[in-house]
Amino acid sequence: MVSNLHKPFIAGNWKMNKTPGEATEFVSQLLIEIQSVEAATVLVCPPFTALAAVSNSLENTRVLLGAQNVHWEREGAFTGEISPPMLRDLFVTHVIIGHSERRAIFHEADEEIHKKVLAAINGGLMPILCVGENLNEREKGKHFSVVQTQLEAALKDVKNPVIIAYEPVWAIGTGQTATPEMAQEMHRYIRKVTTAIVEPASAKEVRILYGGSMKAANAEALLQQPDIDGGLIGGASLNVQEFASIVKIAGSIGQQG
Ligand code: PGA
Repeated sequence: MVSNLHKPFIAGNWKMNKTPGEATEFVSQLLIEIQSVEAATVLVCPPFTALAAVSNSLENTRVLLGAQNVHWEREGAFTGEISPPMLRDLFVTHVIIGHSERRAIFHEADEEIHKKVLAAINGGLMPILCVGENLNEREKGKHFSVVQTQLEAALKDVKNPVIIAYEPVWAIGTGQTATPEMAQEMHRYIRKVTTAIVEPASAKEVRILYGGSMKAANAEALLQQPDIDGGLIGGASLNVQEFASIVKIAGSIGQQG
């Protein structure tokens, strides 16, 4: 038996795609495609409107359910927002926080991201905290300091294990992937910074996913890197064959231990 912590973690970020009907159809096909994969952990993150339907489809399966955002308050006058207990009620276990699209398009600041991370943990959800530099920052050689600042701001006072997704902004939806070596270098750095923040016992449980144009064709090389514990997959997670292929690749890497 491969322990859960050593299984590659493959998460699909569907972004603003799929109605409840399309989502349940996708999930029923996915479950058939990946039924023999044991050594990978699989998470799907549908839009809020499809969570209830997907939650029903995933009952008694090993595929986990995630959300793409969460508010930091439990309830109240916050038009358009969704709270941790609302997600928990639908058997959501994970939540993406601080995705670069939310930072750039919706002006989410480090302080809000920090509040969301704390609220998720306190509300019994595992945060998937997204960090990553843009092209300009990479070209100026500032990528390590940018990512360190994002981590330190979001994880202030956090002691529990978390999942980090390193998503270089220049690689998201562009077809341009960080090379496995570039990704590994940053993942090792993220592990060092995160280990210094969380409790020593939690540090062993921190998982670091790579995101940014990950697909079946490049998944193996990325997932074989020692500090790449899985992937957060956008575009390629919308196609069931492509996503299932990535899960199978992850499963065979997980099997090798
Ligand atoms: P992509 O998106 O796989 O389409 O590059 C990844 C993400 O934004 O999470």
